[in-house]
Amino acid sequence: MSDRTMKWQVMLLFFCLSLGSAVGQVTYSIPEEMSKGSLVGNIGQDLGIDVKRLKSGKARIYTEDKADYIELNADRGLLLVKERIDREALCGQTTPCALHLQITLEDPIEFYSVTVEVIDINDNVPTFQKEEMRFRISESAVIGAKFVLERAMDLDVGINAVQGYSLKPTDNFILKLHNQQDGSKNVEMVLQKPLDREAQNHISLTLTATDGGEPKLSGAMRVDISVLDANDNAPVFTKKMYKVTVPETAPKGTILSTVSATDADEGSYGNVLYSIANTLDYVPSIFQISKENGVVALTGSLDYEKAQLYEIHVQASDDGGLTDSCKVIVEVTDTNDNPPSINIMSKTNSVTETSKPGTVVTIFNVQDPDSGENGKVACNIEEHMPFLIKATSKKFFSLVTDSELDRERASEYNITVSCSDEGVPSLSSTVTLTLQISDVNDNAPVFDRSTYEAYIVENNTPGLSIFTVKATDADWKQNARVSYILEDSSVNGVPVSSYVSVSADSGVIHAVR
Ligand SMILES: *[C@@H]1O[C@H](CO)[C@@H](O)[C@H](O)[C@H]1NC(C)=O
Repeated sequence: MSDRTMKWQVMLLFFCLSLGSAVGQVTYSIPEEMSKGSLVGNIGQDLGIDVKRLKSGKARIYTEDKADYIELNADRGLLLVKERIDREALCGQTTPCALHLQITLEDPIEFYSVTVEVIDINDNVPTFQKEEMRFRISESAVIGAKFVLERAMDLDVGINAVQGYSLKPTDNFILKLHNQQDGSKNVEMVLQKPLDREAQNHISLTLTATDGGEPKLSGAMRVDISVLDANDNAPVFTKKMYKVTVPETAPKGTILSTVSATDADEGSYGNVLYSIANTLDYVPSIFQISKENGVVALTGSLDYEKAQLYEIHVQASDDGGLTDSCKVIVEVTDTNDNPPSINIMSKTNSVTETSKPGTVVTIFNVQDPDSGENGKVACNIEEHMPFLIKATSKKFFSLVTDSELDRERASEYNITVSCSDEGVPSLSSTVTLTLQISDVNDNAPVFDRSTYEAYIVENNTPGLSIFTVKATDADWKQNARVSYILEDSSVNGVPVSSYVSVSADSGVIHAVR
């Protein structure tokens, strides 16, 4: 320590004479906090007073200071530290800081002024009064908003006092120092990047104050920021009306549209949720909107034949209860999704073969609920059938005979009626009607041959079967049953019936005698 002390020593020495008394003055500089007994200065040498004279003159120190910081070693002519000197206790922030001593001698009276300048050493750390400062700052705080921070105190002076501050981390705030008139600095943190409560609702910063001593000393304080949310913007739909056209056959799950609203707020106040606001109709059971992303999807089934237009009222709301609304117009287009349906209203199972052309066999109606071409229906039957379809009105048809019928040619008809609409592709339905043609006795029996010839020997046995005649009839059942009778005629005056007889059922001719 004594080496350093020597460095600190600055000596100013001069003499002057006044009223015959020797008056001298010397100034020493020493750092504060030197240990007891440290050398302040050699006044014997510096003031040119012999050590003997100090003794004989009963040299004494006189001071107005409260404490005796310095003592005189008269034997060696030295000023020594008597009490540890704390510059801060002695002078506070006043500079320069000095002790003023008078050294007095008797016989003759002499006095000398000694000034001991106490030099500051960096023995005090910058300190903040509080351990932390708390702020509650809205996320809507604008860039440039300023917040005053506490200054740090350092009892040291000059370069050993606080020289600078830092605030870390620097993500949102930067530090600004304003020089005050008294030479001190006002410490402010300035918002330079917007706060976002949803991203970070709490920010912890460290404010550090550093002095300029050797080595530098620093003190720190926590700056605690709670970020408060703000809801100062309502959601806004990008469009007020969305229009979409969808075929009625669209399957469940079909995505119809995506609505979008934006909210300038951050976080939950800016988080938009979508919902369907219709309450008085079936819309909520047919359509659904995804809460988060505004996708409108079909969840029910559409039927053009029931409803051609839907108006979905969509609401967007943020967590703060601010809302906006828009409409989604869903236009349903017809698709040919219904085949014609054929309903037999009245029919006969059989007609007689003598029925006149135009006889009504069946009446049916055809319905197709589709619209336009998709619902336009025409009916027909296979070609080469003795029947015809007549449209009696738009939806009513009759099946009539078209020409003479002949049971003996065709006794039964399977008539396939086919009705098709004009949609693309076309849908059709068929129905098959079975019609019996009932017989009329319109055919006479016909013999296989017109003449039969046979020979028999005389004296034959009565009842001998000679031959068989055969006649057939094209009619049906009763109308086709043939019975044989012998026509009345005679051979040489003798009736034929006395020679031969015919079996009515089998047509077998027998000899009678
Ligand atoms: C009509 O259809 C029935 C049943 O399929 C069948 O038994 C019958 O032979 C058909 N008649 C004609 C004339 O094709």
